[in-house]
Amino acid sequence: MTETEQYVFQTIYARRSVRHFLEKPVESEKITRLLKAAMAAPSACNIQPWEFIVVEDPATIAQIKAEIPRYADYNTPLVMVVCGNPRFIPWENDVGTLDCAAAIENILLAATAMELGSVWIGGFRSDSLRRLLDIPQTVYPIGVVYIGYPASVPPPRTQYKPELVHYGSYDRTREYRKKPEAIV
Ligand SMILES: Cc1cc2nc3c(=O)[nH]c(=O)nc-3n(C[C@H](O)[C@H](O)[C@H](O)COP(=O)(O)O)c2cc1C
Repeated sequence: MTETEQYVFQTIYARRSVRHFLEKPVESEKITRLLKAAMAAPSACNIQPWEFIVVEDPATIAQIKAEIPRYADYNTPLVMVVCGNPRFIPWENDVGTLDCAAAIENILLAATAMELGSVWIGGFRSDSLRRLLDIPQTVYPIGVVYIGYPASVPPPRTQYKPELVHYGSYDRTREYRKKPEAIV
């Protein structure tokens, strides 16, 4: 393996969900680097239908967390809300979800490389976020990311399962699969 391969694979495997953070703000220079990583993501026809809301104000973060009660104990110092803005998407039924997902993954990987912890939060209500953050109806919150210095770091891992791979065509004799052991 080359050094580059090692760095890339190490970072991919080290990216784990971190849900508890130190009481330490993320430096603005690092926030900009996270955003640069996000906007380096691939997007359909390079439309880049994403927008990002960076929230550092503790009172606003508390309000966001109050709207996502299941995850209210996550003590994040920084929230990024990744939104799809389909204004320039010329086809129907696409608000930029996949493009934003690619941007989010880049944020998570860049955060890992900078020794920040992060977690992708999907369990939010769009209408609550719209109201709290004044997001127009034409802009769609796709994902929320909590980011900060990790209180603890989960171990790196792949979850490689050869039985989930079909070579050549779909092998229907292996269609059934077990529920993954760890569903959070
Ligand atoms: C689309 C999506 C939504 C998620 N939503 C939440 C969430 O609302 N709350 C949470 O704690 N984790 C959430 N996660 C994180 C997953 O629980 C986590 O990625 C999974 O358990 C695997 O663990 P790992 O990230 O450490 O590899 C989400 C992940 C994805 C990709």
